[in-house]
Amino acid sequence: MGLNVTARLGIAGTVGAVLFALGAVLYVVFPDIIAGEIKEVKRGILSGNTLKNMKIVNGSLTYQAWEKAPIPIYMHFTFFNVTNSADYVANRSKPIVEEIGPYVFREYRQKVNISFSDEEDTVDYEQIKWFTFEPERSKGNLSDMLTTLNVPFTSLALKTEGKLTLMQQMMLPNIIKMYKAEPFITKTVEEFLYKGYQDQLMIFLAKQSKKEILPNGTFGFQYGQNYTADGVYTVFTGVKDPNKFMQIYKWNNVTSLYLTFEREAMVQGIKTYRFTPPFSVTASADLNEDNKCFCPVDKDCLLSGALAVSSCKKDAPIVLTGPHFYQADDRYADALIGLNRDKKLHETILDIEPVI
Ligand SMILES: *[C@@H]1O[C@H](CO)[C@@H](O)[C@H](O)[C@H]1NC(C)=O
Ligand SMILES: *[C@@H]1O[C@H](CO)[C@@H](O)[C@H](O)[C@H]1NC(C)=O
Ligand SMILES: *[C@@H]1O[C@H](CO)[C@@H](O)[C@H](O)[C@H]1NC(C)=O
Ligand SMILES: *[C@@H]1O[C@H](CO)[C@@H](O)[C@H](O)[C@H]1NC(C)=O
Ligand SMILES: *[C@@H]1O[C@H](CO)[C@@H](O)[C@H](O)[C@H]1NC(C)=O
Ligand SMILES: *[C@@H]1O[C@H](CO)[C@@H](O)[C@H](O)[C@H]1NC(C)=O
Ligand SMILES: *[C@@H]1O[C@H](CO)[C@@H](O)[C@H](O)[C@H]1NC(C)=O
Ligand SMILES: *[C@@H]1O[C@H](CO)[C@@H](O)[C@H](O)[C@H]1NC(C)=O
Repeated sequence: MGLNVTARLGIAGTVGAVLFALGAVLYVVFPDIIAGEIKEVKRGILSGNTLKNMKIVNGSLTYQAWEKAPIPIYMHFTFFNVTNSADYVANRSKPIVEEIGPYVFREYRQKVNISFSDEEDTVDYEQIKWFTFEPERSKGNLSDMLTTLNVPFTSLALKTEGKLTLMQQMMLPNIIKMYKAEPFITKTVEEFLYKGYQDQLMIFLAKQSKKEILPNGTFGFQYGQNYTADGVYTVFTGVKDPNKFMQIYKWNNVTSLYLTFEREAMVQGIKTYRFTPPFSVTASADLNEDNKCFCPVDKDCLLSGALAVSSCKKDAPIVLTGPHFYQADDRYADALIGLNRDKKLHETILDIEPVI
């Protein structure tokens, strides 16, 4: 299953595009945002008087809102539907993509296993999240058919590249043919998200290798994510240093990403402060030493504008990029047709209403 450079970029590119479209970045960059918290952070920074009230202390009002988010949170999933998959398989034509969605889910959050560390001025917790579909806010429904990257198959191709025995190299193409596995696959949106679908090739390979490849032989971008926690967060309580109130110190022991102030903006008539990730957050490892930890060991590092997060996601070849590869190296976007990079639509932003 050798892949040439264009195919690799295409796959890396599509993986990135699909995943960013999924809003995956929300989990990494803003794992813990509710409007109430944000207002309080900003108020804390702006006003010396209220500053001292902004801290997570057991039993306070802030604590209650923090423990169980009182404000609705919506997740928008958009996908790139590949409209020429047969042509790609037959002729290796560039994939043509069409953005569909959003499919909107309401997200509920509850923090559990809360434990304070007084010396560190931090609190550890896990956060349970669950999701319900919001048809009125969505464009399309969960039974829409979507053709997109066959993630288990392309993961397998990328992971086993150059590592197969001669025997395996001879057998694998036949097995792949038998299971009709192709780089793209068509399923319903529901199956690609929370419901998941069983992948017969992976079930077969799991049986052969006696290793679980996918949980229950099932793949879905959000499969197994409903009503679960996504790791241990460590945030500053703000008791000792109010300026650090609610700052995420670590997530599963990994240092968090950051945003910087860009300018003032207006959102539905409300004045806000706009934050964006600085270029250095996703600069390639040779430009920003700090990002070396995101660069998988003994693998090629990615081009600028793409962040490998494999170590956070069970070693799947997952890459975060801007939507439509906004601000990423042109070689990614050039591997696909149908992208339309637009600062207005694709910039990652965080708008905060300053309340004084
Ligand atoms: C995705 O593309 C396929 C093939 O072009 C098409 O049949 C399908 O209706 C598209 N899905 C949506 C939701 O537009
Ligand atoms: C592959 O390319 C040929 C020649 O351009 C074209 O006739 C054919 O329809 C293509 N195959 C598919 C499956 O689109
Ligand atoms: C919370 O702690 C308990 C006991 O240590 C553990 O079983 C559980 O997995 C933890 N996480 C969640 C989300 O409940
Ligand atoms: C908060 O205080 C209550 C009552 O004193 C106690 O039962 C609970 O364990 C405390 N929670 C944490 C996270 O320390
Ligand atoms: C997630 O779980 C909750 C509670 O079990 C359920 O009500 C909801 O429908 C589930 N959401 C999805 C998308 O399956
Ligand atoms: C989803 O949309 C399709 C076509 O737009 C429609 O035929 C179908 O009944 C809808 N399904 C649901 C569950 O609303
Ligand atoms: C495993 O998949 C089967 C078939 O889709 C399903 O019936 C079963 O509930 C799944 N088991 C778990 C633990 O998710
Ligand atoms: C984080 O690191 C500390 C110290 O190295 C360790 O005790 C703890 O178990 C780690 N936590 C997680 C979630 O990996």
